[in-house]
Amino acid sequence: MADAPSKFDEGSPTDSPSSTRRGILGATAAALGAGLAATVLGPAVIFVAHPLRHETTSGSDDFIPAGPPSLFTTTTPIKVDLFADRVDAWNRVVQVKVGSAWVMEKGGKLVALSTVCPHLGCGVDYDTSHNKFYCACHKTWFGLDGSVEEGPSPRAMDELEVESAEKLVSIRFRRFKLGVKTKEPIG
Ligand code: FES
Repeated sequence: MADAPSKFDEGSPTDSPSSTRRGILGATAAALGAGLAATVLGPAVIFVAHPLRHETTSGSDDFIPAGPPSLFTTTTPIKVDLFADRVDAWNRVVQVKVGSAWVMEKGGKLVALSTVCPHLGCGVDYDTSHNKFYCACHKTWFGLDGSVEEGPSPRAMDELEVESAEKLVSIRFRRFKLGVKTKEPIG
């Protein structure tokens, strides 16, 4: 024969008024606790997750001011350093150097070549006596148009996008995969 239901069994129609009150108080306390936790932890979670929800940006994907057009009126390459603000997770670094470019006038148009050697990433210099570009790391010579004339670089110097406005020349600095024949942007 089954036991007779106890008056303390949960949900029993025989619950006393005091146990019902205890249940209501417990549920209310749990709800308040959950609300308090959400209030305290919510902003913390949002703060910690901030870099996950927002694309980390470097600023270097944008066009970067390189100087006035009057600076680049010759066919002789001029080296410009490009600075931009970097935003990395929670940090913002103002005006950090993101790269350099050789800029010259060619056929009425400005051309910018990255100074990063496509071979293994050393800096490419301009050799005034030969009027050519030269990477001393493994002795690659590049023509003024950036093409490889001699040495191990697998491709020409990487051309960068140039935006020429009335008062300002801007360059979009990008990095490309090293040691490969094709120009493949990184990132
Ligand atoms: S890094 Fe320029 S030739 Fe090797």
